[in-house]
Amino acid sequence: MPNKKVKTIIFPVGGLGTRFLPATKATPKEMLPVAEKPLVQYAFEEAADAGIERFIFITGRNKNSIENHFDHNYELQSILSDSNKREMLKKTVGWLPAAGQIVFMRQQMALGLGHAILCAEKFVGNEPFAVSLADELFYKKDGNILSDMIKLYDNLNEKCNIVAIQQVENKKDVSKYGIVAFENENANYGKLSHVVEKPKIEDAPSDFSITGKYIFEPEIFDHIKGVKPGINNEIQITDAIADMMSKFNTYGYKIDGERYDCGSVIGYLKANIAFALRNEETKDQTRELIKYFNRDIK
Ligand code: G1P
Repeated sequence: MPNKKVKTIIFPVGGLGTRFLPATKATPKEMLPVAEKPLVQYAFEEAADAGIERFIFITGRNKNSIENHFDHNYELQSILSDSNKREMLKKTVGWLPAAGQIVFMRQQMALGLGHAILCAEKFVGNEPFAVSLADELFYKKDGNILSDMIKLYDNLNEKCNIVAIQQVENKKDVSKYGIVAFENENANYGKLSHVVEKPKIEDAPSDFSITGKYIFEPEIFDHIKGVKPGINNEIQITDAIADMMSKFNTYGYKIDGERYDCGSVIGYLKANIAFALRNEETKDQTRELIKYFNRDIK
């Protein structure tokens, strides 16, 4: 029997964003803008464009601005509409999902990414689903990496998990990510034999990191329930994946495009520069700025 279609996505947005303090003290990291758009909107649009129909946000306290961003803002809309500012109106609400497609659910305690995903169990049902971490911003010219992953899942046509992977730029960064052992490092995807969360450099099985986009079979929920708190005393999704590997294959998909880890200050800066350079209106001035800053600065 062919695999079921991936129609649901979970956005775990309840994390504390400690890598980005003090900006994230009262503002969710997912609301930080790259160019003029908050990270969470990029993640949502990527999913909608990949054919996802149900969007589940796992939020937490202090995250209300995310919910507001996905709602109408009548005062602003009425002012824009009265002054006939159509383009701005489009930017405000033109991209919103239809009523009923979106769910916000609170993770009452920040017990880890695995726990956040588990919160959605009753709403996902017995179907494969995607997970997207909004602080991992992907870019593919004329393409969509999440959609590529869903196509791979459809083509594999077996019950399996898929994680997007990419080599870290600097080997010492392996301890910031989930790291995988990838059977055929020359192919664009391959079966994983091992995954480990935030290993020490000397224990890392490779320098391929998990990049925050996943496709899971619903069986993952049982494996999340089975794992004990791991690194940082959190329920880690990586540990649940490792636990599930003896029953179903997990594939690593090497992303074909750019990835910006916007949970880190440098990754965020890089994303802003790259998106400003891709924008016709801002690219020339951005180039000038880069030239300007390419010198010692007081
Ligand atoms: C999470 C995952 C990790 C993954 C990373 C990608 O870690 O646990 O496996 O590599 O996202 O950004 P976090 O950044 O939440 O510590």
